[in-house]
Amino acid sequence: MKKRVLGLLLSTVVLAGVLAGCGGQQQQQAPAATEEAAEEEAPAEEAATEEAAAPADGVQVGIVLPTKDEPRWLQDQAQFENILGDAGFTNQVLFSQGSSATEATNVETLTAAGAQVIIICAHDGAAAAGAVEKAKAEGVTIIAYDRLITGTEAVDYYVTFDSVAVGEAQGQYLIDNAPEGDGVPLYLYAGAATDNNAFLFFEGAWKVLQPQIAAGKFKIANSSEAEALADKAELTRDEMSKIIDQVTTDWDFNVAKSKAEANVTAVGADMKGDVCILAPNDGTARSIADVFASDKDVTSYLVTGQDAEKASVQYIIDGKQSMTVFKDTRTLAADSVAMALEVLNGGTPATDATYDNQAKEVPAKQTPVVVVEQSNVQAALIDSEYYTAGDFTGL
Ligand code: BGC
Repeated sequence: MKKRVLGLLLSTVVLAGVLAGCGGQQQQQAPAATEEAAEEEAPAEEAATEEAAAPADGVQVGIVLPTKDEPRWLQDQAQFENILGDAGFTNQVLFSQGSSATEATNVETLTAAGAQVIIICAHDGAAAAGAVEKAKAEGVTIIAYDRLITGTEAVDYYVTFDSVAVGEAQGQYLIDNAPEGDGVPLYLYAGAATDNNAFLFFEGAWKVLQPQIAAGKFKIANSSEAEALADKAELTRDEMSKIIDQVTTDWDFNVAKSKAEANVTAVGADMKGDVCILAPNDGTARSIADVFASDKDVTSYLVTGQDAEKASVQYIIDGKQSMTVFKDTRTLAADSVAMALEVLNGGTPATDATYDNQAKEVPAKQTPVVVVEQSNVQAALIDSEYYTAGDFTGL
């Protein structure tokens, strides 16, 4: 019998984003990175270096995205491509293909091409500090995009989703839909420790899950470090690091899969049956879900995600993933483009939050997130025109 994912109840819908308008000036767009580059057979890093090496001409705003190998960042690329035509400034988008070295070259290339603003989503938040410091020294305004760059004063602004809310929504979903009774096995997974967001997601999830763990509702299945800290409501970054180091997926589907396989092999029958899984994003959720779905001693599982990747939306429709957190990339791209335009026009962009990057409080523009499960795929993703119904089967 096909294993079903538990929990079809709608948890929360926390506001949809509003597209910020921008434009007005004459626009001349430098060549943006293309889909074809993603399909090149050459190793990813080489492909990205080739892109970076192509000299841009008269770029006012440079955009650096982390990798084409995860659908999340192709969503962002598509949104930038949709709006850059009317952005009112010349621009270029480059990908770093999971390499801090390529990322630094991309930042240098854009700076040399005259970029006055660089919008950058760092591959590794700490490693990117050096690259943006050099650009900042040349007078470039740095806008961190989605991922905060840490340990440097060279970040002017941060455009982000509410990442703590992402983790809270994931944890709350598990709580709201967990099987009856105490001692429900809970598997924890996290993002890459090089990504500040991994800490924010975990912080949010821990905030809501910890009281339930302490009360005996959940029993942690795969992290001795989390078990040791089960009575602690607020974790320091070092404490979170200890847990994340044990349960990290590195944002890599294969790492997620092997970690889940090792976990289900290591535990006894008491940690199987109806289980709950905190998976940090959609790509890792699908890998982890596949492992649990094929374990004969797992009767049902709840698994979280984030990004509303098409493949995961299909998993949700098919009952193989429980939820995702929709982060409307249209809003993030539009907010960062509007912010860049404001900077180019000599203004000060509006912000509504600050984030501590371990060197300063970075002024931030923060966007809320939306929980999506089977019952609101249509309303959240199709009616909002993020996707079309034809993108999916069985809707
Ligand atoms: C982003 C997520 C994404 C993850 C892996 C995080 O920084 O916020 O949306 O799934 O990186 O790329």
